[in-house]
Amino acid sequence: MKIIIDTETKKITVEQLSENKSMPLFSRDAFELISDQWIKIGWNEKYSYTFTWMGRPIIQLPEDIIRIQEVIYKIKPDVIIETGIAHGGSLIFYASLCKAMGKGRVIGVDIDIRPHNRTAIESHELFPVITLIEGSSTNPRIVRDVKRLIKPEETVFVVLDSNHTKQHVLEELESYHDVVTQGSYIVVTDGIMKDLHDTPLGKTRVGV
Ligand SMILES: C[S@@+](CC[C@H](N)C(=O)[O-])C[C@H]1O[C@@H](n2cnc3c(N)ncnc32)[C@H](O)[C@@H]1O
Repeated sequence: MKIIIDTETKKITVEQLSENKSMPLFSRDAFELISDQWIKIGWNEKYSYTFTWMGRPIIQLPEDIIRIQEVIYKIKPDVIIETGIAHGGSLIFYASLCKAMGKGRVIGVDIDIRPHNRTAIESHELFPVITLIEGSSTNPRIVRDVKRLIKPEETVFVVLDSNHTKQHVLEELESYHDVVTQGSYIVVTDGIMKDLHDTPLGKTRVGV
């Protein structure tokens, strides 16, 4: 595919399979077309690895952080469960929303909480609203441990951001769907992976 951006005529032309399609530069279609390339190039450049939230690295796109904040503020959950902690930035982000809303706590699950990450999370000022659980998110013992921390009347919001293979996400959905309260959500992150396989890093990083 060839994309020609003409800032003088304010048009975008897409050449694909010997067909040409033009659209106004200042249009929703053009924004989507350019955004698709922005996502691919940014992912290949590891753009999502360049942010921190209140001092901890958060592996998210800013757009996603803002959108998930919109949902969390609407739901105002009692409990936010996240699978996939990494450096803890997203847990701290959710905890900061809980603190700002005056409501809620966060449970994070990761198969491997590295000692330096654990130390940094546990010494963070928002740690009082965070519980860390180490183990595979689909291990029945871990699922039981998470569920034990939830009271029956509580509103629960779940984010799946651990191993992004189809099989693992399916098992996570089977493990956690029943804790999500009516009107709340279970968010499966990295649905974008299907669009990234044709980037230079696509072969090595898709599904990780
Ligand atoms: C994409 S990172 C999480 C990023 C984090 N949510 C953030 O926004 O900063 C994925 C994490 O999933 C963890 N992980 C991989 N397989 C897992 C599994 N089976 N159960 C729980 N965590 C897993 C990895 O150890 C890694 O820390």
